[in-house]
Amino acid sequence: MKTLKVALLGCGNVGSQVARILLDDAADLTARTGARLQLTGIAVRNPDAPRDADLPRDLFTTDAEKLVESADVVIELMGGIEPARSLILHAIGHGASVVTGNKALLAADGASLYGKADAAGVRLAYEAAVAGAIPILGPIRHSLSGDRITRVLGIVNGTTNYILDQMDTTGAQFADALAEAQRLGYAEADPTADVEGHDAAAKGAILASLAFHTTFEMENVSCEGISAITAQDIAAAKDAGFVIKLLAIAEKFESEGAEGVSVRVHPTLLPRTHPLAAVHGAFNAVFVEAENAGELMFYGQGAGGTPTASAVMGDVVTVARRLVLGGHMGVEAASGHVPALPLEKVTTSYSIGLDVA
Ligand code: HSE
Repeated sequence: MKTLKVALLGCGNVGSQVARILLDDAADLTARTGARLQLTGIAVRNPDAPRDADLPRDLFTTDAEKLVESADVVIELMGGIEPARSLILHAIGHGASVVTGNKALLAADGASLYGKADAAGVRLAYEAAVAGAIPILGPIRHSLSGDRITRVLGIVNGTTNYILDQMDTTGAQFADALAEAQRLGYAEADPTADVEGHDAAAKGAILASLAFHTTFEMENVSCEGISAITAQDIAAAKDAGFVIKLLAIAEKFESEGAEGVSVRVHPTLLPRTHPLAAVHGAFNAVFVEAENAGELMFYGQGAGGTPTASAVMGDVVTVARRLVLGGHMGVEAASGHVPALPLEKVTTSYSIGLDVA
């Protein structure tokens, strides 16, 4: 039986659960892939730091470069741009396929990374980068590829949904709700990325790229976070029959004769009857409108170690199956025919109104 060497980069909330699943569920993973998935090492900055899972100490290394050089599959869960980008390129250069959950890196430099993976004949998989456990990128990229998507509305940041939901349902203060989201492991290391909408904007760029078959980067996304939302705003919205949600919105748009796709993140007034209004806590949901399929909603846990590890492991199994079967491992890169609407043409609408109720 074939053995595939798997290297893990990063061992935080998600990484430690991925390592646990690789070790505990080894027999099932072998049955599903036809290969033994051997976790050869876990690269971390500090091998002695406390972890969520009880993992063998001898797996840890601080030499990430060396670890990826002998791997068939590299799982990058370090987050951030560097050293993640250099290590992914190093892995691709050594013929490894890569599974990553790094939305910031993909939103900043995805097109170049997909191109390099494609040229090297390896796979770059990233379902975990958007909406945690929810299978959303695969359905958009594959299942809906024969349709025309017209709009994507996403609650794609668990921390801000948790904060807004706590403020709406319990009257909690912003700071207390944020502290609880951090304690529960939903927030980024620097929660500014959550509350100012940057994390949702990165995910919005990835969703829009796949939904509209082109390449959007962070700089194409108009972004406003939730730090200015007050208890009074929440109460006024409630009185009027609305709930405030931080949405990532990607839609076909026409403005002053220019056609394109507008991608934006901002607090949005949603009618309380809209399906997205029922998304509570740190849950995520993505509402897709397509010409032939109509309306679809994908819902589930969008943050947290174990749910996100599920999405990572789905990619690991898919990549491993293809390695066992052989053949070309290319990425399904965006083909680039719909332009991003210039940001000055984007009208930020703070209510998506009754048309989607
Ligand atoms: N900080 C992110 C969130 C984690 O709250 O959704 C998952 O990407």
